[in-house]
Amino acid sequence: MLHPTTATPVDPTPSPLISADGLLPGARVLLKDETHHASGSHKEPAARAVVARALAEGHDRIVVGSCGSYGRAMATACAAAGMRCTVVLPAEWGDGGALAAAAGADIRFVAGDYEDAVEESHRLAAMEGAADGNVDGPYQDAIAEGHGAVVDALYEQLGGAPVSLWIPLGNGTTVAAAHRRLLALDWPVALHGVGSRGNNPVVVSWPGPYRELSAADVVTTDHNEPLVNRHALHGPDAMTAIAASGGTVHAVDDDELLAAQALLGRYGLRPTPAGSAALAGLLTHTRTAPAAGAHVVLLSGRD
Ligand SMILES: Cc1ncc(COP(=O)(O)O)c(C=O)c1O
Repeated sequence: MLHPTTATPVDPTPSPLISADGLLPGARVLLKDETHHASGSHKEPAARAVVARALAEGHDRIVVGSCGSYGRAMATACAAAGMRCTVVLPAEWGDGGALAAAAGADIRFVAGDYEDAVEESHRLAAMEGAADGNVDGPYQDAIAEGHGAVVDALYEQLGGAPVSLWIPLGNGTTVAAAHRRLLALDWPVALHGVGSRGNNPVVVSWPGPYRELSAADVVTTDHNEPLVNRHALHGPDAMTAIAASGGTVHAVDDDELLAAQALLGRYGLRPTPAGSAALAGLLTHTRTAPAAGAHVVLLSGRD
């Protein structure tokens, strides 16, 4: 059955949806390749939505805290709109800001981790009168709208509802936004969030009540960075969304991320290990629970 075109895609250039034949016996796996965005990140439509809103309000500069990909996405979106962008990064993480700087952003560093970078960027935005583009800042609504675009695109690209949609999970922002859009479309799809084993409060708390971790609880590696949080800024919302949709939270380790990344290489796809998390989660899950029907896997990240 084809859906009526009631959805209004926010994203003018939806990413490809690739059928991964033979990946999962008895089931259909569809790879939603969000690495196709200019910044390589599924965060880019959300960043573009913030830029549009901030521009309309008369801002000429956006400040965000990031562990890398949201900063690069925001830098890319700002450059396209002729806005200035400042990205605050944890000093010891990632590529040292090279990718966001290459996209035109001004880079600042803080000691500490992702949450410290977000806190400093809130302070900087307020002090310098810039738009605060953080995922927990005043543009949350625009961010949710931007992230919802991938659901709109799937709604248009698929003939009917898939059984499940698998999403990499850090703050839980993408999962929470996807659920909001699924509800608006009245589209019954189970949402599965996939995070780094032991390194994210949603993963550690599930299925119990959300509880924050301490800095000493989490271990950041070259591969799991975007999935690591001591406090997931939309963690409780994401848990509610996943439970309400009939999905589950899944934990994967770095070896599983790397194995999923290697498998995706066979289909000509090159997401980062963290950006391969959704597939890692689906494959881990189906070791014990046989799959049938169509499962959509969201891919992200480019080095
Ligand atoms: C590859 C990748 N996976 C997961 C995430 C986490 O997404 P969210 O914070 O929306 O849960 C990010 C965020 O930047 C990411 O870049």
